[in-house]
Amino acid sequence: MSTTSRAAGAVVAGPVARLRTLRSVALRSPDARRAAEFYQHVWGLEPVEHDDGVAWLRGTGPEHHILEMRQAERNALGKIAFSVATPREVDEAARRLEALGVPLLAGPGRLDQAGGGYGLRFADPENRLIELSADVEAVAPRDPGGREAVPRKVAHVVLNTVDIDAACAFYTTVLGMRISDWSEHQMAFLRCNSDHHVIAFNQAEWTSVNHVAYELPSVDHFMRGIGRLRHHGVTPLWGPGRHGPGNNTFSYFADPAGLVCEYTSEVEQVDEDAWLCRVWRRVPELSDLWGTAGPPSKDVRRHMAGIPDPGGWWQK
Ligand SMILES: [Fe+2]
Repeated sequence: MSTTSRAAGAVVAGPVARLRTLRSVALRSPDARRAAEFYQHVWGLEPVEHDDGVAWLRGTGPEHHILEMRQAERNALGKIAFSVATPREVDEAARRLEALGVPLLAGPGRLDQAGGGYGLRFADPENRLIELSADVEAVAPRDPGGREAVPRKVAHVVLNTVDIDAACAFYTTVLGMRISDWSEHQMAFLRCNSDHHVIAFNQAEWTSVNHVAYELPSVDHFMRGIGRLRHHGVTPLWGPGRHGPGNNTFSYFADPAGLVCEYTSEVEQVDEDAWLCRVWRRVPELSDLWGTAGPPSKDVRRHMAGIPDPGGWWQK
């Protein structure tokens, strides 16, 4: 896709906005209630608001919420939300998206949702709902000493795609993300800040959410979190281990909805001026640096594939 287009006599070049952070992810499931209870009582998130059939949960970081879990007919992605710095940048993104022929599905304007904010929404080429927002509501500090072994923020979302090159083209040219590394031509890791990746694409048979990863403050917190899950009778589908690309620790679990969630920590920090993208071979010594996890089982692969998610739930 070209990022240069002509509309109303104006030439628009370059990304539509400078994404600052991955704020939150929204998930949809027939088992949303049980999943929300798991994320609260076992995973370590804290409810900020709830409504009929939907819960918003926060971590210990500054985001109003990092997970929205909503009742729906089938497992699906609800949306992915990124921050931009100011409402003015939201307005500018709206102008640029329209010039590129990407229809706005909401905004730019006040967001009528938990945490409020000023934002806009549009769909990516595989019909995933993307939100850009600024001026979201603050929340009171939670665990300011950083002692609890609970998630701070969403670290990354991995998305199954049927066309990894088209997905990377849209997220790099339109959204200005950078490719940090490749895992052969199977996975691409994309960043929008110094974290090695906040989004990764996985070439797959169908579009779906592969998994959502939550960041713990250290390897010690990460291991204590795994211990708490074990105390609740929840054992990893895969891990613990440390990945090559991103150098982050990993431990993957299935939530009660069958969606895959990950505890991670210590993701590599990128120096924007010095970083060089690499291509990692998919061999055990690179995908499991500690040698503790072994290869992913058929069961974890099945969970990560999920069910086909055509998106566009907002059109029904
Ligand atoms: Fe991950």
